[in-house]
Amino acid sequence: MSVTSDPPQRPPIPPFGQPFVPPVTDSAAPSRSATAFQQPAGACIQLERVTKIYDNGCRALLEVSLQVKRGEFLFVTGPSGSGKSTLLKLLYGEEQAAAGEVTVNGMALSQLKRPQIAKLRRQIGIVFQDYKLIPSRTVAENVAFVLQAQSFTRKEIHRRLLPTLKLVGLQDKAECFPGELSGGEQQRVSIARAVVGTPPILLADEPTGNLDPDNSIQVIKILQRLNAMGITVLVTTHDEHLVRQSHHPVVQIRDGRLLRVRG
Ligand SMILES: Nc1ncnc2c1ncn2[C@@H]1O[C@H](COP(=O)(O)OP(=O)(O)OP(=O)(O)O)[C@@H](O)[C@H]1O
Ligand SMILES: [Mg+2]
Repeated sequence: MSVTSDPPQRPPIPPFGQPFVPPVTDSAAPSRSATAFQQPAGACIQLERVTKIYDNGCRALLEVSLQVKRGEFLFVTGPSGSGKSTLLKLLYGEEQAAAGEVTVNGMALSQLKRPQIAKLRRQIGIVFQDYKLIPSRTVAENVAFVLQAQSFTRKEIHRRLLPTLKLVGLQDKAECFPGELSGGEQQRVSIARAVVGTPPILLADEPTGNLDPDNSIQVIKILQRLNAMGITVLVTTHDEHLVRQSHHPVVQIRDGRLLRVRG
């Protein structure tokens, strides 16, 4: 489905009264938390025979097909250089496929113009391995920044900030600067920033890559909690141990080709 004819619009602000409280117990009967992360019907993410070739000729993905259902939690594993980050970049429109089609929330990415790419990105929270926090801004300011950029009102920003920081266990660090936090805490700020706008999709690229085992488990538990609230979560990781400990579906990318390992 193309959205090129959609008029430019501000994203609807989903309800956020108690968005992080009740877990989803019945997917057929949306809870308040599920409505906070609104999901259209059908497959959330779809790749059909997607090939990605970078400008220097490097073929990062070859005929990759993948369907991720809404509400799913999927691990993407594979060795360094296999194409995991490239896959995520295609999903949020940072890179374009050379062949095949990427569809996210019903939007065929090859059809999107710049305003629609911005609209797509408001539906996707992104967590980077290196956090990408603004060092001169506090934790609260780093998280609020996303909402300011989307023209949320001050009142709405205020309403969202504390529950989001509580979700990642950082309510007491709101006034700290990133340099005053541990790596695990910085990664949790980046998760808070990714979800404060209540996107239906969360992409996490090696979110535990720089963390020790305890912090890695803590981060994965937060991602699982978000998933239980209705967010579709894709996590790339090298960490086979972390993957083995979980029950989530797993795909592996090897030399640009995708294999389903589990689920
Ligand atoms: N901007 C780019 N220009 C050219 N080639 C690139 C670019 N980005 C990535 N590549 C190449 O594409 C391939 C896949 O890279 P990608 O970053 O997706 O791998 P990865 O699985 O995420 O690796 P890692 O686990 O080390 O993060 C690699 O061969 C890489 O060198
Ligand atoms: Mg990578």
